[in-house]
Amino acid sequence: MDDEPNPPALIFMSSQPDIANETVSANTVNDHTTSENTTNNRRVIDQVAPNFQDCIQSLGLAQIQRHVFICADQTVPKCCDKADSLAAWDYLKRRLKELKLDQPTSDRPTCVFRTKANCLRVCQQGPILVVYPDGVWYHSATPEVIERIIQAHLLNNQIVKEYAFLVHPLPTHGTTATD
Ligand code: FES
Repeated sequence: MDDEPNPPALIFMSSQPDIANETVSANTVNDHTTSENTTNNRRVIDQVAPNFQDCIQSLGLAQIQRHVFICADQTVPKCCDKADSLAAWDYLKRRLKELKLDQPTSDRPTCVFRTKANCLRVCQQGPILVVYPDGVWYHSATPEVIERIIQAHLLNNQIVKEYAFLVHPLPTHGTTATD
């Protein structure tokens, strides 16, 4: 008998009709930048100390298109073995670098940032991985699944529905910089 829990159904949590559509593509949830926000962001960058400006430039922080968080190297591994989580994290880092997605390039002015989260609090069927700003949560993010997420989601704006269990883009509030 198979003791594996059934994969959770994919849930779309959005009032945006494009995102609730069964044939959703991830780029419909990835257009949060307005010219006003860009101007405000640029003003913030111009005001920070030079060492922060160097950091912003070298990491491509102002060119981030997507931010991927993965549960890995947990203090208390619950969703998967710690070794499996580290293998997934290492794979994600390596592939983003190999595909030159980790830095802006002359061909593509945006980049994908990645962060190892100790625990994303889902704590089942891991490794758990979430892609922002799309707000797409994936379970079972093994290296093989991560490769599919990279090819379909990060490169072609298509959610890997087989492994996604929630789509919930964060609401935007038109934040502005204060003096
Ligand atoms: S241990 Fe992976 S989400 Fe909590």
